[in-house]
Amino acid sequence: MPDWRERLAVPRAAFIPAVIWDYEPETDEFTRISRDSDPARWHGMVAADQPITTQLDDGQPDDGQPHDRTRVPSSSCSQPSLVADMLDALDVRPGHRVLEIGTGTGWNAALLCERVGGTGQVVSVEIDPVVADNARRALAASGQAPLVITADGAAGYPPGAPYDRVLATASVRAIARTWIEQSRPGGRILAPWGTDYGEDALTALEVHADGSASGSFGQRLAFMRMRGQRRGFLDPAADELDDAERSSTAREPLELFEMVDFSAASFTIGLRVPDCYLTVEDTDDAHRLIELHDIRSHSWARVTMVRGEHPWTVHQLGPRRLWDEADTAYSWWQDAGKPAPDQYELTIAADGAHSVRLPGRHWRLPLRPGS
Ligand SMILES: C[S@@+](CC[C@H](N)C(=O)[O-])C[C@H]1O[C@@H](n2cnc3c(N)ncnc32)[C@H](O)[C@@H]1O
Repeated sequence: MPDWRERLAVPRAAFIPAVIWDYEPETDEFTRISRDSDPARWHGMVAADQPITTQLDDGQPDDGQPHDRTRVPSSSCSQPSLVADMLDALDVRPGHRVLEIGTGTGWNAALLCERVGGTGQVVSVEIDPVVADNARRALAASGQAPLVITADGAAGYPPGAPYDRVLATASVRAIARTWIEQSRPGGRILAPWGTDYGEDALTALEVHADGSASGSFGQRLAFMRMRGQRRGFLDPAADELDDAERSSTAREPLELFEMVDFSAASFTIGLRVPDCYLTVEDTDDAHRLIELHDIRSHSWARVTMVRGEHPWTVHQLGPRRLWDEADTAYSWWQDAGKPAPDQYELTIAADGAHSVRLPGRHWRLPLRPGS
């Protein structure tokens, strides 16, 4: 496989804003990097095979006051080698009509334009007006002319339909029915897809004439979620913790690691346990907190792993016993022969219902309103 630089016909520097954000794991903070005041660092980041955060907190300015709010990336330019992999997986051909969800910097839209050529058409939908305007400017300067629409990509863009290809560059838990309805039969939809529990898988679906779509899960990805499908976590207060049900788990360390590992059980647990957001935090060298959150029912669970101690304490709060549900799903995964993500098939019926299938097993995934 050639180097990603040879696979991407448009360089990305012209699409990257003058101010970008560099994450510092040691401090868990983002540092502002300006092209004008720190050109070496800015150009170094742009040249690297790394994603670049271009917006935090949906563009809300940092008020400069001390706060304990964690800043969250809300727009970025994806990792170049991954962009190349996704364009190849999308199988874009000259003359295609392509719908992109998540214009971001506009770089991927420019790459799509280059692939569809003069006879094709690219429509790219971006929910954030400031991000969309910046992308329009960069695209105009680059000489590429996709149609950039400022809107919620969940609605697709009917005037440009039917599309041969739909590409989501923000991750989703639910494939929008509009994307299927606006695709031609035989068309392809590519999206980072994941449940609330774990990481996303690059998911390729073929659209069928009956209005359904089906496909399978590929490589693991970490993308920001589409607005409207974001996950949230709970942070119980000390008095709530006092009321939490306490138990312990006899699971071995390897089992706990499998429960949070995408290539092991976590993808399956997410398919079996709805609306359950997993977080894993190492608070120091000896302590790891595995937490499960359902913000809708206000249910929460924590396993406190302490090096050198076993079994570990489990706290569970709220109407659901999330740890018990995950533990049951883990046993199911073991009994089912430890299926990997790429062994499942995902089907979206014409009415939007999502279901997954393994040979001999089949079940429907609950979707929330707004999915
Ligand atoms: C990873 S970035 C996209 C990268 C982009 N394709 C590029 O080439 O730079 C994800 C983008 O999706 C946008 N987004 C999030 N939710 C959206 C939604 N519901 N509809 C449209 N765009 C959305 C974000 O504002 C963000 O700009």
